[in-house]
Order: sequence, then structure tokens, then C-alpha cells
Amino acid sequence: MRHLLTGFEFNQDEYLDILDTAAAMKREPEKFAEVLKGRSGAIMFEKPSLRTRTTFELAFYRLGGHGVYLDLQNGELGKRETIGDYARNLCRWVDCLVGRVFAQKTLEELACYGSVPVINALSDLYHPAQAMADYMTVREHLGRLKGVKLAYVGDGNNVTNSLFVAGATLGVNVTCFCPLGCGPDVQVFTKASELARKNGCTLAVENDPALLKDFDVIYTDTWVSMGDNTPLEAVKKKYMPYQINQELLQRSGAQIVMHCLPAHRNYEITDEVMDGPKSVVFDEAENRLHIHMSVLSKLIKA
Ligand code: CP
Repeated sequence: MRHLLTGFEFNQDEYLDILDTAAAMKREPEKFAEVLKGRSGAIMFEKPSLRTRTTFELAFYRLGGHGVYLDLQNGELGKRETIGDYARNLCRWVDCLVGRVFAQKTLEELACYGSVPVINALSDLYHPAQAMADYMTVREHLGRLKGVKLAYVGDGNNVTNSLFVAGATLGVNVTCFCPLGCGPDVQVFTKASELARKNGCTLAVENDPALLKDFDVIYTDTWVSMGDNTPLEAVKKKYMPYQINQELLQRSGAQIVMHCLPAHRNYEITDEVMDGPKSVVFDEAENRLHIHMSVLSKLIKA
């Protein structure tokens, strides 16, 4: 049995297989209509979602299975009964647990006590399926992944961590440009950097946005992560040098602009760039569906 908890679980061939299957599912969805016939999963969200929730539910449906959405937004996992008991109940009924949680350790606990695959649909540390959909989108637009140079600008967060992990596995050079003290998780970065060395690519963290030159892809995300109630206005001064606007985009040399969404228009990205010809943000959103179909079929069949 395999889980997708961090993104470190899969090697390059397995990542490419997930991306290739997702591409095939996008091209000819009807061929996969019965892959999960009679199979089901619990979709548990402690935090709000548009894209991830919709696409996991639809992924089960499109594969002939059924996803049961469990709304936990009014009562975090582990409050009504232990996470272990929660997992042991669900595993008597479903073939997979999909969880969006506050803490990574909640997913680890579900995996420890449960007997079915657990998929991370975002935690404080990782957003692995997002990164898979992102690299699927990069490959669609640039025709390759190995050697591609991706610049992530803004706040180093769970999405940054997962872009590092998946990028290191797939041979992508990833640099995070962020204010001092706002970088990605150090342990994740160190572990992903070892992987990058083995796969012939590099990972880096920089603070000076003036170094943003000669990249293929530029990517951003919110300056204030979900669950953090700091108003964007309060952090605007610190992050404004990292805003993707026309000037930054031009200087970066990037052919495509990415954002995992939801976007805070005219904070981390301007309207002009988000609605401009280099923006692929809605392709990324669409690809969440195809990647979730691919991941579910791989893990539930395994
Ligand atoms: N990118 C992303 O995970 O979107 P949602 O929060 O809407 O699921």
C-alpha cells in the first residue's frame, strides 16, 4: 500500500507515470470511466477549498467510484473521537482517505492507524498533488521538465515546499525568492536538495529580487497562508518587491506565469499579468482534476 503524504514517496519514474496517466485521462477520459468502479474514498477537509474539493469529488465520479465529502470545518479531526478511531472506522467502508488538514501529523496519524492509502490534499507543510498538477502544466506548455528553471516568488510555504520536492524529483531547477526569514521549511529544503543533486538539478533560496533573470517559469502564491488572519495590507510593504507585475515578469524572462489560486489580485500578482497572455493559472486549476484521477487510480489499485 502506498500513501501520498509528502511527495517524497515516489521516484522520478513514478512521478512521470502519474503525469503521463493524467495526460492520457485528460485526452481520453472515457477510457478510464470504470477504473474505480465500486471503489470509494472519504474526502476530509478541515480548511476551505474550491479547486481541491471539487476536483477530488469529480475525480472519483469520473473513474466510476464515489467520494464521500466529510465537512470538518466546524470540528477539527481528533476532537469528537481520536484520529486513530476515526481512521479505523472509515477504513471499514472506504478504499482511500483524502485529507486537507491543519497539521501534517494528522495525516501521518491517519496513515498509521488506517489500512488504506492516505492522500495529502494540503497540510501546513506540503501540497503534493498541487505540485504534480503544476509540473504537468509546465510540461504541457514548455514540452519538457528536465533542466527547466522555475522561480517561485513571495512567501515560502507548503506550496513552495512541494514545488521543491516534486521539482527535485523531476529534474527541475527551482529557486525561491522571498523576504529574509520567509523561506520554505529548512528540513524539507535540505532533504529535497539531496534529491535534486541525485537528479542533476539545483534548488536555491534567494532574497534579492534583482537576481530574478533567465527563468522559464515564474510562480507565486498568497503572501498570507490559509488559517493566518494577518491582513494582506499589513505585509504588503515586505512582499511588494516580489509581486509579479509586468516589470518583474519581463525581467524574469519567463515564458509562463503560474499561481496555484486563490489569487489576491494586485497583491502577489497584478490583474494585467494574471489575465495576460503568459498566464496559465486556469490550466493549472484544470489539471488538478486530471492529476487527482491519476493519483487515485495509482494508489487505490496498488
Ligand atoms: N490551490 C488550491 O489548493 O485551491 P483550493 O484551496 O481552492 O483547494
